[in-house]
Amino acid sequence: MILVTGGAGFIGSNFVLDWLAGSGEGLVNLDKLTYAGNRENLRSVEKHPGYVFVHGDIGDQGLVEQLLARHQPRAVLNFAAESHVDRSIHSPGGFIETNVVGSFRLLEAVRGYCDSLPAAQREAFRFLHVSTDEVYGSLAPDAPAFTEDHKYEPNSPYSASKAASDHLVRAYCHTYGLPVLTTNCSNNYGPYHFPEKLIPLMIVNALAGKPLPVYGDGQQVRDWLYVGDHCSAIRRVLEAGRVGETYNVGGWNEKPNLEIVRTICALLDELRPKAGGGSHAEQVTFVKDRPGHDRRYAIDARKIERELGWRPAESFETGIRKTVRWYLENPDWVARVQSGAYRQWIAAQYEQAA
Ligand code: NAD
Ligand code: DAU
Repeated sequence: MILVTGGAGFIGSNFVLDWLAGSGEGLVNLDKLTYAGNRENLRSVEKHPGYVFVHGDIGDQGLVEQLLARHQPRAVLNFAAESHVDRSIHSPGGFIETNVVGSFRLLEAVRGYCDSLPAAQREAFRFLHVSTDEVYGSLAPDAPAFTEDHKYEPNSPYSASKAASDHLVRAYCHTYGLPVLTTNCSNNYGPYHFPEKLIPLMIVNALAGKPLPVYGDGQQVRDWLYVGDHCSAIRRVLEAGRVGETYNVGGWNEKPNLEIVRTICALLDELRPKAGGGSHAEQVTFVKDRPGHDRRYAIDARKIERELGWRPAESFETGIRKTVRWYLENPDWVARVQSGAYRQWIAAQYEQAA
């Protein structure tokens, strides 16, 4: 089996659902259930015989050691992180705790476990660290996209904390021989995305008739990848990635934020026209920019294609349509996330039933 951390978050829960649907292998999910962790996302697999959920912190080294000893995973995949840039600007402390110190404690536990394995199992073991393109900093408008050799130049407390964890992962491979793999991915979107991030926030605000807050001039560029494609890239890197290597993952979909917002509004105009007429785009409101806002990210994903044969399956047009439809079809999920009721779901579902 494999051990996944942060599997109740946006990308993690998509990964867990895909893994349990498509592989015969079990999965342990260790998640602290911060505001971003939502066990309700995983309701459909809670009773799956190959699935184990553990409520806990990657920084709790003793707990991780126990889990490793008990379940003997052949791989650990680290999705757990504080992930929202704006939160890191307001309160960086939690980002250092989880993304830096937590990753360090997790690596310590995994190093001990890996050293205890018989040679053949150690040879096959992998630690896969899920990271971000933001570690590379911001690109000029005409600069080539980030390759794996691009220098690290993180600009926010979030990206600096992720860069620190990437460096620790690299050092554990170089110094202790831990068999690591790192993926640096661009902006994801899709089902179960917490509505603090651009795409889900714009969908839910547009539907609620609220302003659509675009930072600055809205011309910042992100490179969008449908979450299912990120999950397939991670599975492929786990399967065939070369130990010690990093793989950039992206969708070849560079778009300015304002274009993203207008695309969402046009889809909503088509799929859920406003009762009183007019376009959802009339709700666009330009607001104060994010401090230190990176202007452009773009991923050069040729290495993962060349070496591992991975390419995204979704275009932006197909992925964003699926995503908008998912939010239209899941108003209860949105309502429970917005009201905070999702946090009581565990108590309602499990503790009363016990
Ligand atoms: P998310 O914020 O939606 O989920 C994070 C999950 O980690 C939550 O379930 C949370 O409860 C859990 N968690 C937080 N601290 C923890 C701790 N100390 N111990 C155990 N669990 C903890 O994040 P996401 O968007 O799903 O991102 C997952 C990973 O992918 C992160 O490492 C992020 O840096 C990386 N990433 C995200 C994107 C993106 O666009 N969302 C792109 C590239 C890389
Ligand atoms: O690039 C990968 C990263 O993408 C991940 O590592 C992060 O975990 C993830 O949160 C995401 O970071 P961004 O800062 O790019 O994502 P966010 O959705 O917060 O913002 C996307 C762009 O939209 C960014 O330029 C800021 C802008 N924005 C965002 C919000 C929330 C707005 O204009 N208005 C908003 O209200």
